[in-house]
Amino acid sequence: MHYDVKNFTLEEKLKLLTGKDSWSTYDAEGKVKSVHVSDGPHGLRKVEDKKTVKATAMPNLAAIANSWSKEAARLDGETIASEYVEKDVDVILAPGVNIKKTPLCGRNFEYFSEDPYLAGELAKEYIDGAQSLGIGTSLKHFCCNNREYERFFQTSEIDERTLREIYLPAFEKALEAKPWTVMCSYNLINGVYASENKYILKDILRDEFGYDGLIVSDWGAVHSEFRRILAGLDLGMPYSKGSYDELKSAYEKGYITEEQIDERVRRVLDLIEKTINDKKTVRFDKEKRHENAVKIAKESIVLLKNEDDILPLKGGKILVEGQLSANPITGGSGSACVETEFVQRPLSELLSEKLGESAKVEYLPSVSIAVENSHNVCWNLRGGYKKAYDSDTVVICVGNNGDIEGESFDRVDIRLSEKQEEFIINTAKYNENVVVVIYAGSAIDTSAWADKVKAIVYAGFLGEAANEAVSSVLVGETIPSGKLSETFPYCLEDTFAGGKTCDGFVDRYSEGVFVGYRYYEKTGTPVAFPFGHGLSYAKFTYSNMKIKKNGETDFEVSYDITNESDFAAKEVSQVYVKDVFAMVSRPEKELKGFSKIEIGAHETKTVTVNLDYRSFAYYNTSLKKWHVENGAFEILVGASSEDIRLTERIDIELPETEQQSV
Ligand code: GLC
Repeated sequence: MHYDVKNFTLEEKLKLLTGKDSWSTYDAEGKVKSVHVSDGPHGLRKVEDKKTVKATAMPNLAAIANSWSKEAARLDGETIASEYVEKDVDVILAPGVNIKKTPLCGRNFEYFSEDPYLAGELAKEYIDGAQSLGIGTSLKHFCCNNREYERFFQTSEIDERTLREIYLPAFEKALEAKPWTVMCSYNLINGVYASENKYILKDILRDEFGYDGLIVSDWGAVHSEFRRILAGLDLGMPYSKGSYDELKSAYEKGYITEEQIDERVRRVLDLIEKTINDKKTVRFDKEKRHENAVKIAKESIVLLKNEDDILPLKGGKILVEGQLSANPITGGSGSACVETEFVQRPLSELLSEKLGESAKVEYLPSVSIAVENSHNVCWNLRGGYKKAYDSDTVVICVGNNGDIEGESFDRVDIRLSEKQEEFIINTAKYNENVVVVIYAGSAIDTSAWADKVKAIVYAGFLGEAANEAVSSVLVGETIPSGKLSETFPYCLEDTFAGGKTCDGFVDRYSEGVFVGYRYYEKTGTPVAFPFGHGLSYAKFTYSNMKIKKNGETDFEVSYDITNESDFAAKEVSQVYVKDVFAMVSRPEKELKGFSKIEIGAHETKTVTVNLDYRSFAYYNTSLKKWHVENGAFEILVGASSEDIRLTERIDIELPETEQQSV
């Protein structure tokens, strides 16, 4: 199917540039198909007759990022898209790839990482997976939307190098999967709204990155219809009553020409054609979608601490405490929430089933997220602690809910609620074998209690798969293989400016490129659990690192990983690059490659990661391009950003004609 712009009247064309309603595009009185779009990143949130349609609630993107698995990200996109086909929606309004500038951002559960390389690689797989079923995606929020506070009106004030090196690369990489749409953000970038920011939308996204799909506004992000047309924003969503009149008046005043209107209409028609021409496939039914959610969730769980190898659970008297264990939070709140009809079984029941006769598992509600009004919560405190005292192991389930992590607001702190912290600390006084499971969507300050417990399992927000996946890891049926995609600092004060970088008018990006682990390493700030950290029940050793030079900046890095254990397990290894004598300030090292592989018992596998020009380059604002300086570089292979196992040195010797001001 092909539509020709010439076959539409001016009125039809202007109406095609704005939605028909909240979730669909104009159909020109039946001349074209109306495209249906819907949130969100973790499954379908479709509103019908003012009710949200039930759908499969997948693990949140922040959790999937902890899997470091391209296969998991791809399967997630395919699984969500499958339901979109089934329920006749054409475009997923996801994935979000905004970088986690501060752990306070309310939507961090919807985003992948503090590192653009990891975020871009995983988003690309998600998009590719979804679009392979004929369902479009919307890469968002373009760009520099890194907190929720005053998101509609606050300027992100950012220097060019920081923009290029930290906040654009995840979009740049994800664009390789050719998302059908890119969604602009609400905020201003250096004083100009994203929806009418020609530098961002046209000079960078279109001309430099070569994006030829449709650019859509975030909902209500258009402030001037003619300026957004001039900047290259194709579709303003949702329908807004005044937009047609505003566009018509701008045309009549000569602010915009028919040619400029036609350019935008062409993109809208291209999107409509894709929804007709690209074959749609339902690859998974509801049962299989749930299975996929569990499979992905198991890959995403991070074992932060495991003293005395208390995990996997060995049986005996096990007390499971915390209401989250019976009703885990599936995800953060806002447009990314999903209403699932799947009822999760309580963790205690699943543990009892999996451990069988070897264990006696009991459950106590004990503690929840809400700050109960203590005088009316009477559950026999003494009795509860006595049960803990008489147990061999206590599993305490804590975390955040959608009142703490969600769209349109930021967190004010990164600790658990006071009641939850207090409960962990008190329980640890009566039992030395406490395992804490955290259901949350972003970094948690564990410093008040981490040294008082034997094990910490960071589940994340795992959708409807939470308890099946958590129980599988706790009993050792699944060997934990997740690693943190976001640093867990000791406390909010250890983050750049304590997270206080904005005043509602301007959010200053004055930490520059030193975001996440880049910041903690540059400032020598110790952290609780570093970027890339995650334990296993298996033990891995790294050896035999080799570097093969295939070109001036093309290197093949290979190394061996041996699984020293008696059972198969998966390991995420990371490759970092350090520019030893840079002429500008650069991070201590930067992630430029990673791998996740399964290795059999006592088996050794060789991992190969390729590095290219961009692996060594920084954005030079004098040369206005990515630039590699000659000199010494170090390639570091690690099990985490702090646990570096192998290092090799190389020298980059580009011809002098490629150095400095040429
Ligand atoms: C929201 C969000 C965006 C979402 C859109 C539609 O405000 O910022 O992520 O896709 O509007 O709900």
